[in-house]
Amino acid sequence: MTGDAHGAQRVAWTAPWGRAREWFHRKLAELPLDLVTDAAGNQWATLRGMSERTVLIGGHLDSVPDGGWLDGCLGVLAGLEVLRRLASAGAPPVTVRLVDWADEEGARFGHSVFGSTATFGSLDLASLQELTDRDGICLADAVAGYGIDLARVAEASRHAAHVAAYVELHIEQGPVLESLDIPLGVVTGTVGVERHVIHFSGQAAHAGATPMERRRDALGAAATLALAVREIARRHGGVGTVGRIVASPNTPTVIVGQCDVWVDLRHENEIRLASMLVETQEAATAIAERERVDLKSRLLWQIPPASFDPQLIELCEEAVQETCGDVHRLPSGAIHDATQVANSGVPAVMMFAQSLGGISHSKEEDTRTEHLLLAVRAFDRLVSKTTRWAAGW
Ligand code: HGY
Ligand code: MN
Ligand code: MN
Repeated sequence: MTGDAHGAQRVAWTAPWGRAREWFHRKLAELPLDLVTDAAGNQWATLRGMSERTVLIGGHLDSVPDGGWLDGCLGVLAGLEVLRRLASAGAPPVTVRLVDWADEEGARFGHSVFGSTATFGSLDLASLQELTDRDGICLADAVAGYGIDLARVAEASRHAAHVAAYVELHIEQGPVLESLDIPLGVVTGTVGVERHVIHFSGQAAHAGATPMERRRDALGAAATLALAVREIARRHGGVGTVGRIVASPNTPTVIVGQCDVWVDLRHENEIRLASMLVETQEAATAIAERERVDLKSRLLWQIPPASFDPQLIELCEEAVQETCGDVHRLPSGAIHDATQVANSGVPAVMMFAQSLGGISHSKEEDTRTEHLLLAVRAFDRLVSKTTRWAAGW
């Protein structure tokens, strides 16, 4: 079991995630594929082709806590079925690989796309060493439980060799395709992210005996910032979220002395994203002065916006058109491993399946069965088109 009544619990570096990956490994082992797990924990399955140029299919089995059943998994399992078909048809024109990325979500330690950054980017080991989860467990110890030595994760980069194209099938996780009544979408790129932890330090004091004008209320500052983040996002046409606040001593009769606020800012335009970050930091400074609290801020993780490859977007559009007629191009408000791959310069594209109610990262996440069938068929066509494109046919 990898979920419960609250949703999917396949949080990376936890037992349910480990069980999901073992199940997947058994499924892969039924096919004539070379299987290997790399130094960052990514699981690779390789179908050797007529050349070592490679088309890479990606997805992720890890979920957020209380997550949905499709986020990431759709891509991994669609990839399994595409490999099954390709393997039955003999050697493809190029090598085709499927990767189950380790820790795409960053749900436990805050650093998203961990495995794909080790492969197609570079992980900042110093900042990784500082990351702990809500129980104080450090990332290094959590990954060590899965045989990963942080000092060696860069060795995963050898798997980037020969990759000519990257394709990923994913649910949209937003409301656009459903609002247009379209089953599938062609993704043009993804937003960039600035994710910071802002710490307000005031004074814990008596909730009854402390006059309002004498308070140094850290949660008052944090709550004001959370509302300011929403206004800044609206002003720039981006999105801004405070998804986590930790207040202490977290007691009804004590004014909050210390408060941490996790801020997640996103925009598809890099300049706008930078402006949103500056304005958020300026707002935090002004609020701290007004509330007479101290302020510290630290970068948790960031990634620039990504544009997908125009030729692969065309192939994706053809595959969707041939499968279900309607075509719609859209940017992704979520980031994905494809963001990291595209930012490394490798041609990449994604295909979306409609999300019911536009809901994701929640147990309500769902997609109509007939749309899932269309998605896997269209994705299979995209992989075939991409292998011919990579082979220069
Ligand atoms: O945060 C994201 O956009 C992704 O779901 N990890
Ligand atoms: Mn995902
Ligand atoms: Mn996700």
